[in-house]
Amino acid sequence: MKIRDSGMPVEEVWASFFNPKTTLHTLELTSACHNVVEFGCGYGTFTVPAARMVSGTVYALDLEPEMISCTQACVDEAGLTNVQFIERDFIADGTGLADGIADYVMLFNILHPERPVDLLHEARRNLREGGVLGIIHWNYDATTPRGPDMQFRPRPEQISQWAEQAGFERLGDGLVDLPPYHYGMALRTRAD
Ligand SMILES: C[S@@+](CC[C@H](N)C(=O)[O-])C[C@H]1O[C@@H](n2cnc3c(N)ncnc32)[C@H](O)[C@@H]1O
Repeated sequence: MKIRDSGMPVEEVWASFFNPKTTLHTLELTSACHNVVEFGCGYGTFTVPAARMVSGTVYALDLEPEMISCTQACVDEAGLTNVQFIERDFIADGTGLADGIADYVMLFNILHPERPVDLLHEARRNLREGGVLGIIHWNYDATTPRGPDMQFRPRPEQISQWAEQAGFERLGDGLVDLPPYHYGMALRTRAD
């Protein structure tokens, strides 16, 4: 099931909201990371810079064939060969990827499903022990030009609580501001 309020404006407008390379650096994606799992690649805004940074494969999932084609075109244009596309509903069916396959998981602008802790559990399952989860989301502010309806939009404190329930702990200083409209956090799998 497509996550509520997860539609996007045209690509140029969407791209204008982000500084992807800085965001990925800030949220601890490094060249030491091997495989990455991206839940909902959209236009590939973060897929291409992530694939440039890592030594392994970026598994880019989306349930919309047009989003996959769009990201595929950007990946091809960039001359990258380390992105594997998976057209799949990860809410209904999970990622289908092996346990512990990833050093890094991206949940970017997607953590507002009906059962967020289930999605975080799936992210946790895909990460190796000590792997990192990067999350970004729209500020909890009704004046942002896009973003999920306020009744579904999570506050950062809620995300932290859900992530803790799913077996993550915060990395570094915690919350980071990603102007103009986003915040982010990096978390590590907690050894239980
Ligand atoms: C708001 S966009 C964010 C895209 C990207 N993460 C970014 O921040 O640029 C959400 C994307 O997730 C996809 N999506 C929503 N629900 C999904 C589901 N259940 N399974 C797979 N993809 C999904 C949508 O098709 C869309 O491309």
